[in-house]
Amino acid sequence: MMSENIIILGIETSCDDTSAAVLSGRKVLTNIVSSQKIHAQWGGVVPELASRAHHLSILPVVETALKEAGVSKKQLTAIAYTRGPGLMGSLLVGSSFARAMGSALNIPTIPVHHMEAHILAHFIEDEIQTPPEFPFLCLTVSGGHTQLVLVSDFTAMEVLGQTTDDAAGEAFDKIAKLLGLPYPGGPMIDRLAKSGNPSAFQFARPVVAGYDYSFSGLKTSVLYTLEKYIAKDPDFIQKNLNDIAASVQQAIIDTLLKKLLQALKDTNIKRLAVAGGVSANSALRKSLIELADKMKIKLYLPNPAYCTDNGAMIAITGYYYFTKKISRTDGHMSPVARWMVGK
Ligand code: KG4
Ligand code: ZN
Repeated sequence: MMSENIIILGIETSCDDTSAAVLSGRKVLTNIVSSQKIHAQWGGVVPELASRAHHLSILPVVETALKEAGVSKKQLTAIAYTRGPGLMGSLLVGSSFARAMGSALNIPTIPVHHMEAHILAHFIEDEIQTPPEFPFLCLTVSGGHTQLVLVSDFTAMEVLGQTTDDAAGEAFDKIAKLLGLPYPGGPMIDRLAKSGNPSAFQFARPVVAGYDYSFSGLKTSVLYTLEKYIAKDPDFIQKNLNDIAASVQQAIIDTLLKKLLQALKDTNIKRLAVAGGVSANSALRKSLIELADKMKIKLYLPNPAYCTDNGAMIAITGYYYFTKKISRTDGHMSPVARWMVGK
């Protein structure tokens, strides 16, 4: 089968975005993302509300993805869906929908690992990004995970280090909440930091062993600093919001880059990629460009459209699993809340 004749529908419902994408070969025809607004008022994702919202939007999102792609259900080769890791109630909606649709159409359904899909989003054929050559190191930074992954092939992935507590995106979101900013806080801090001084405040940069990360101490350090200043001036946050945002962002970037630099030196791998929601962060991207320049390594920055959760990354992973006859599950199709990368 010619690659462009392979048409994959990708469905993502692991957290708070309902997304469906249609790919022809490695090219994205449509990538529809419906981000749930309901969580903003709670300052974080409420699992039960997330699964209810997925129920409401899954059908219209899938129908829109197919319609705008000009693809009929009968033209689909296979349906890829996020099997895990993620919120069980959310995963159940997408996986049940995908498996029922696949069964009705009599086409294969392909269970995909969400974090591996974030990495494989680099392989979408797109003018903005170039697929990395194997092996490469990937810094995967999202709302639920922070991992340093050695990627040797489409499924041969080894986690060299990961967070021991909060994920980098979670740190952005929790600290944004302390600052009174709405969820998700990452993009907001990114924007505010643009006109702030990253050296204005020295927040803690907790140290843990090996290539692992820790972010919960940073959150506590921001909390204590804010309490100290607010006692003297109740409007402290408002008056210093840009500087606080820039300093928080700098602390997160410094923490991420320290271990990354060590891993690049130790492994001597000359190719580096970044993936996941936090890889959309403009200052992180700038720092990575500088690091890659200094270390003379090749850097792969994903198209921002494929950084945060999306169906296209699930569909491209499905494309490789389908064409290379890869199964990641030993026939177990049911969703799993926890699932190690490369296992
Ligand atoms: O990959 P993703 O969409 O979902 C998970 O798999 O978790 O990542 C969402 C995370 C959120 O924590 C959000 O605040 C963060 O990515 N994020 C950002 C930016 N855009 C999204 N963090 C910092 N700067 C950004 N520009
Ligand atoms: Zn994700």
